[in-house]
Amino acid sequence: MLKTRGNRITWLGHATFQITLADGKVVLLEGWVDGNPACPQEAKKLRRVDTMLITHGHGDHIGDAVAIAQKFKPQVVAIIETAHWLESKGVKNAIGMNKGGTVKVGEIEVTMVQAVHSNGIQDGDKMIYGGEPAGYVIRLPGGLTIYHAGDTAVFSDMKLIAELYAPEVAMLPIGDFYTMGPREAAMAIRLLNVKHVIPMHYATFPVLTGTPEELRKQTKGIAGLEIHAIKPGESLG
Ligand code: NI
Ligand code: MN
Repeated sequence: MLKTRGNRITWLGHATFQITLADGKVVLLEGWVDGNPACPQEAKKLRRVDTMLITHGHGDHIGDAVAIAQKFKPQVVAIIETAHWLESKGVKNAIGMNKGGTVKVGEIEVTMVQAVHSNGIQDGDKMIYGGEPAGYVIRLPGGLTIYHAGDTAVFSDMKLIAELYAPEVAMLPIGDFYTMGPREAAMAIRLLNVKHVIPMHYATFPVLTGTPEELRKQTKGIAGLEIHAIKPGESLG
């Protein structure tokens, strides 16, 4: 049983999450909502966004970021080159940071961490350098620490993330093809030493074949592990 301590974590499908804090403020992880085929119609109606964290500049993570930023004027956190690109498209209040650094945004603390992936930004017919892809460790009010891995392969420095930040919950991609699949995610869970996992980045497209069932098989031996395979639109807390 995960104690979210006043925070509500809602999966909007694919890699997008909406975290509602006890005071009603909303943190959006990734900027892909309207164009996200996995997001239920009802959940697309965002009421507010105070902070938006972007892991990298692929379309399935920033497809609606500019529109969301213009509508709700949130603080937007991204790696510096992606932040710069977003600013060039009219996003205000962008915080361009880099890996290893921590920034306080409102009442949350955000640490940018490693992700093993790519980060070109499709801009018309050009591919723009977006800097490196990232993941985030997020400390929420009430003392809940979560890790959103972004798009990534498994990497051994996930052990460092465990030692330094001890996240209680990890959002991990399991879809395979563009990211790790269940076999690799099972290793990630061991390296991270987390007991609560929310699988993401699967089933959105036919090519994303990894499933929570396969992840359960691959993690059978891990004592006390809870895989929260919620549906898009559903929440924890
Ligand atoms: Ni990607
Ligand atoms: Mn992706």
